[in-house]
Amino acid sequence: MAGNKTLTMIKPDAVKDGHIGAILAHINKAGFRIVAVKMTHLTTAKAQAFYEVHKERPFYGELVDFMTSGPIVAAILEKDNAVEDFRKLIGATNPADAAEGTIRALYAKNVGENAVHGSDSDENAAIEGAFHFSGTEMF
Ligand code: RTP
Ligand code: MG
Repeated sequence: MAGNKTLTMIKPDAVKDGHIGAILAHINKAGFRIVAVKMTHLTTAKAQAFYEVHKERPFYGELVDFMTSGPIVAAILEKDNAVEDFRKLIGATNPADAAEGTIRALYAKNVGENAVHGSDSDENAAIEGAFHFSGTEMF
């Protein structure tokens, strides 16, 4: 059964460009409830750990450098079928391929600096939620 939570990060490019408010409003309008939210600056160790699944990929170093280049906003979002619906809302990894009106089509710069993260499974949503938030920070 599909779970009802996902984890997002507004990435350093979108934070730097002043899009936090617009992206959170877009997420709310799509029917997601914000269960937890914080602005933080990932250390290299934390960014490496978060994206460890990609550590053999050629873009891993670049991804870690980018994710530590400035503050991010992490949030847990709640909605029926959250993981799949949120991936639809954000669009393809490469904004050139992202459907019109998706968050990446609107705010991403390129395949690396692509504005937002979205969990790719219910299992990873739970792991990533616990990565960023303690129990007392979730509502
Ligand atoms: P995310 O995990 O951030 O939601 O992105 P995603 O599922 O759409 O894409 P994924 O394959 O998990 O890749 C994670 C992030 O790595 C960067 N990337 N760069 N230069 C490249 O070819 C490349 N490919 C991926 C992106 O920031 C991507 O979101
Ligand atoms: Mg991914």
